[in-house]
Amino acid sequence: MLVCAETAPLRQQLAAWRRAGDRIAFVPTMGNLHAGHLRLVEVARQQAERVVVSIFVNPLQFAAGEDLAAYPRTPAEDASALELAGVDLLFLPAEELIYPHGRKAICRVTVPPELGEILCGASRPGHFDGVATVVCKLFNLVQPDLACLGRKDYQQLRVLQRMVRDLNIPVRLLGVDTVREADGLAMSSRNAYLTPEQRQQAPALYRTLQRLAGRLQAGEQDFAALQAEGMRLLEEAGLRPDYVSIRCRGDLRPAVTGDTELVILAAAYLGRARLIDNLRLALSGG
Ligand code: PAJ
Repeated sequence: MLVCAETAPLRQQLAAWRRAGDRIAFVPTMGNLHAGHLRLVEVARQQAERVVVSIFVNPLQFAAGEDLAAYPRTPAEDASALELAGVDLLFLPAEELIYPHGRKAICRVTVPPELGEILCGASRPGHFDGVATVVCKLFNLVQPDLACLGRKDYQQLRVLQRMVRDLNIPVRLLGVDTVREADGLAMSSRNAYLTPEQRQQAPALYRTLQRLAGRLQAGEQDFAALQAEGMRLLEEAGLRPDYVSIRCRGDLRPAVTGDTELVILAAAYLGRARLIDNLRLALSGG
């Protein structure tokens, strides 16, 4: 596995692969890799001859007071895991390469408010602009044929699909299903913030989504009441819910009676962690 921290060797290697006719799949990450990230790598390997992974803890997507400094960084373990997983190139840019004029003085991607300021964007101001900006830059650096992204960050996936369409970026995005612990908790680097007791409480997030999905499948249509019930269930389990929201899968607008392709999204604080999860479901529509 080649490890690059600079643009020139990265571009040189990518150009050689392209000349040889190899397709390039890309998996952007912030490191502290777990089985969820490695699943993206596995899917990437099935789709292309060459797999590039980036690790960059992107300061632009952390709001003031968030966990940028505390975000877990495990570069040596990450590199071994990626090598073992058959990754061809690990791109590890320094902050100066990504933000040469500092974090504030950079041309940015602005996500439309109806997509970027709802759900997680409502409580994390500027987050999705920060994500879109860095992923746009990474796409320009790597110029992959396709990129694998987790459905765990469902709003992020939708934001990036929109960015690629609106800015005509020639990359195919592939959404990959969420990898979970045995008790249902979605794998996340932020799970490391949980105390053993909080770790026992955390699966309530996914359980709540499953409960609401069951009620929807059984024909309940009062979305507001179901959302309120979801908030109550999370509180009862000891979490501090941010939102529980039933939305249309495609554009994330609030679901109304008659919509059938749905996603239930939730975010909750538990100790130092902010946990997110979602569950897609299709109603029969009959
Ligand atoms: P990070 O949280 O490291 O996640 C990198 C990729 O792994 C994202 O596409 C995310 O959706 C996916 N992922 C995380 N947990 C997963 C799980 N349990 N199952 C499946 N996929 C999972 O998301 C980011 O980094 C950043 O915002 C980034 C896109 C790299 C931009 O900075």
